[in-house]
Amino acid sequence: MLEPDTRLIVALDVSPDRAVEIAETLDGYVDGFKVGYEVVLAEGAAGIERVAEVLEESFLLVDLKTADIPEISRSIVERVSEAGANAAIVHGFVGPDVVEECAEVLPVFVVATMSHPGAREFYDRACRDIVKACDDIDGVVGYVAPATRPERVREVRKITDKLIASPGVGAQGAAPGDAVRAGADFEIVGRAITEAHDPVEAAKDLTRAMRTSRPAE
Ligand code: XMP
Repeated sequence: MLEPDTRLIVALDVSPDRAVEIAETLDGYVDGFKVGYEVVLAEGAAGIERVAEVLEESFLLVDLKTADIPEISRSIVERVSEAGANAAIVHGFVGPDVVEECAEVLPVFVVATMSHPGAREFYDRACRDIVKACDDIDGVVGYVAPATRPERVREVRKITDKLIASPGVGAQGAAPGDAVRAGADFEIVGRAITEAHDPVEAAKDLTRAMRTSRPAE
């Protein structure tokens, strides 16, 4: 289910209605979709359910960047799982006990560090340690590492054989394929697709660009 093919995950930071519309249109053209606070604050778990219901081929990753104590984080991921998510994103800086608790419920992508400039201040320093501490946890299927800073993707790839999903392509400045070339399995793209005049064409263009930049297997 979480196998990379097109290598594209579309971030649906839009209204639930628009998220459902784009998910229906692009189901099967892209590997997965990511929904987060934009959808959940509008309609709660029902927003996740609506997107999950229209997907037949692509997977659904729910990104609440969970970062609470283990018990609360687990119950958040339980709700996300009940709503139909195939995987969840959990922050790594909170420690392996939180990650382990969540990963018992649903496959988890752990944030290793982030794509925005401020991540250099604190998060980058913990990146290697986060991956080392989480890599033996069953249910951790991968990491989130920034396309905007491929050196961080390479750093994560050196430590793990698990999946890497990289946001930051398009609106945040990374070019399609930058992260895949550095060792990522997926690139997460939001506004470059959701704000495009034709999201299907935008997704196809990105997929083509990524395909031509894949490292030799
Ligand atoms: P855009 O519109 O910038 O959307 O293509 C990017 C999406 O990815 C999320 N994002 C991140 N998620 N770690 C994460 O776990 C990150 O470093 C990161 N940077 C961006 C963002 O919430 C949006 O959905």
